Amino acid sequence: MNFSGIFNRLQRVIGVLLTAVLCCTAGAHVAAQAATHVAAQAPNLARAAIASAHPLATAAGEDVLARGGNAFDAAVAVAAALAVVEPYSSGLGGGGFFLLHRASDGHQVMIDARETAPSGILPRHLFDAVGNPLPGATTRGGTAAAIPGLPAGLEHLAQRYGSLPLSVTLAPAIELAREGFKTDRRYARITQLREAMLRASKESALFLDNGRAPAPGYVLRQPDLAATLQRIAGEGAAGFYRGPVAEGMTAAINAAGGVWQLSDLASYRVVERAPVRFSYRGANITTAALPSAGGIALAQVLGMLEHFPVGEVQDAEYAHLLIEAMRRAFRDRLQLGDPDQTAIPVAELLKKDKLKQYFMDMRRDRATPLPPPAATGTGAGSVNTTHFSVVDAAGNRVAATLTINLLFGSGIVGRGTGVLLNNEMDDFSLRTDVANSFQLRGGTANSVAPGKRPLSSMTPTFVEDEKGVLILGAPGGSRIISQVLLATLEYLRRPQVNLKQLVAMPRYHHQYWPDHIEIEPEGFSAAWRSALEGKGHQLRVVNRQWGNLQAVFQPRGSGAAQAANDPRGNDVAGY
Ligand code: GLY
Repeated sequence: MNFSGIFNRLQRVIGVLLTAVLCCTAGAHVAAQAATHVAAQAPNLARAAIASAHPLATAAGEDVLARGGNAFDAAVAVAAALAVVEPYSSGLGGGGFFLLHRASDGHQVMIDARETAPSGILPRHLFDAVGNPLPGATTRGGTAAAIPGLPAGLEHLAQRYGSLPLSVTLAPAIELAREGFKTDRRYARITQLREAMLRASKESALFLDNGRAPAPGYVLRQPDLAATLQRIAGEGAAGFYRGPVAEGMTAAINAAGGVWQLSDLASYRVVERAPVRFSYRGANITTAALPSAGGIALAQVLGMLEHFPVGEVQDAEYAHLLIEAMRRAFRDRLQLGDPDQTAIPVAELLKKDKLKQYFMDMRRDRATPLPPPAATGTGAGSVNTTHFSVVDAAGNRVAATLTINLLFGSGIVGRGTGVLLNNEMDDFSLRTDVANSFQLRGGTANSVAPGKRPLSSMTPTFVEDEKGVLILGAPGGSRIISQVLLATLEYLRRPQVNLKQLVAMPRYHHQYWPDHIEIEPEGFSAAWRSALEGKGHQLRVVNRQWGNLQAVFQPRGSGAAQAANDPRGNDVAGY
C-alpha cells in the first residue's frame, strides 16, 4: 500500500483517539498522550511502507506504525492478521522466515521460525514395508504436519526487536478473528478447491458456509482463533506451546494418525541465522539462509552472471542465460537441507571460481541439459504461502515469507483452538527419486528426521543500491526463487524504480528437473518462444499466472517510500 493510505489511516486513528479523549474520563490521559505521539510521528510516515497480500493485514501493520510501533512491531501485526484473513496461506499452525534490518546499528538477521519434524516420526509412518513412500503421508492427515514455528517467531520478534507489547500488536488480528471480515473472490475460489478437505471435520468446516465454499462477501468469524491469539497476547508463545492450545492441536493431529507429543511443542525454538549476503554488480543483496534454498540459489545465479551486464529479463538471449543459471543452481539444491542436522557445503557452493566455471560451461547458442536425477517427478501441486515487506520511517526493515505449505495446509484444525495446521512435512525429500508437490527433488541432506527443519524455497530479500533499498519476496513454492530473481534484475536494470511494473512483469521458471521452462500464459511473444526453442529448450506454458510478489522501495535521501502488490493477488489467478 502506498503511504497516502497510511495518512488516511492515521487520521482515522487520531479520530478514534480524540473520540476516546472526549468521551471517556477514565483513560483520557493515556488517550491524549497516544494522540500526541501519533501526531508527532506523522511527518515521518511518508518514509514508511507496507506491502502484503491482504489489505486488512496491511491496515493492521499501518495501525501499529501509526501508534508509534517500529517495522518489527508492524511485522507482528501483519503476520498475525494474515493468519486470520488469508488462512489458506499462512498462520499460527505454520512457520516462516523473517529477514530483519535494524537501522540503528545495521544489524541484519534471519529469524528462522520454520516448522520441525515431530520427535516420534519413524520410517513406518511415511514408507511402506518395501520402502516406497506412502501416498499422501506428507500432504494429508496427521503425519503431514510439522511442529509450528510462527507463534515463537512472533514472540521473538516482539521481545528482541519490537517496541510494543504483543497485546497491542496482536489486537488487530484478534479483532478480525472475533468480529469477522468479509471474504473475497480469492477466498471463494480457494475454498472451492479445498471444499471436500475442509468439510471433513466440524473444526475445519468453519472455513465454509454450511459446508460449501462461501460466496464473496461472506463474513468469516473465527472465535477460537481469536481466543488463541488472545492467549498469546497475554502469555506469550507459552500460551500456544503449552496448556490447552498445545493439547487441542496434539489431540487433533494424533486422532488423524500423527505422532505429536506435547514435549515437541514445549521444546520448539526459533533460531537466529546469519542471512546469505553478497554483492552483485555494485548492489548489496541480503537474503534467506538455510534451511531455505532460496538465498543460496539467488546468490549462485547472480554469481554465475556477475561478469555479464544486467540484461532485459524478457530478452530471449538473456533469458537463455538466466535459465541455464537456474538449471545449475537448482541442481545444487540437491545438496541442501537443515544446517543444524547436516553439514552443508555452503561456502563451496558460493565460491566465485565455481560459479564462474558454471558460467563458462554454458553455451550461448544451446541449452545444456544436465543428467537427470534417478526418476521422473509427479504432477505439480497447488501453491500457497504469503509474503509481506515493511519499512518504517527510521529505516528498519522486514521481509517475511510465511507458510502452512499447500492451500489450507493439512486441513486439520487443533481442537478448540482455531489453529489450522500445516503440511510442511512435504518439503522433506522422502527419497532422492521422488518429487514433492512442487516437483522438487532433494538429497539425503533433506531427508526426514526428528526435530529437523524441511528445506524451503522461501526467499525474503533486501536489494540495496545507489537508488535505495528494495524489500521483496513472494509465495509460490519453488517458483518463489525465480520470481525474486527476475524482480531483482528488473530493479537493478532500471535507473528509475517502477514498482508496479516490477511486480506485474511476466514470469518464467526452470528448476533443473523437470527439464522444461515454465512460462506464464501472457507476455511472451512467439519470437521469444521460438528463439528459446531454437536453442533446444522445452517450453511449458502454464495455464495461469503464478505468484503474489509484495515489494516495498525506500529511496535514499528523504523521498517517500513506495509499496506495490502483485496484480495477480487481486484475483483468483494469483495463488
Ligand atoms: N512450503 C513451501 C516452502 O517453504 O518452500
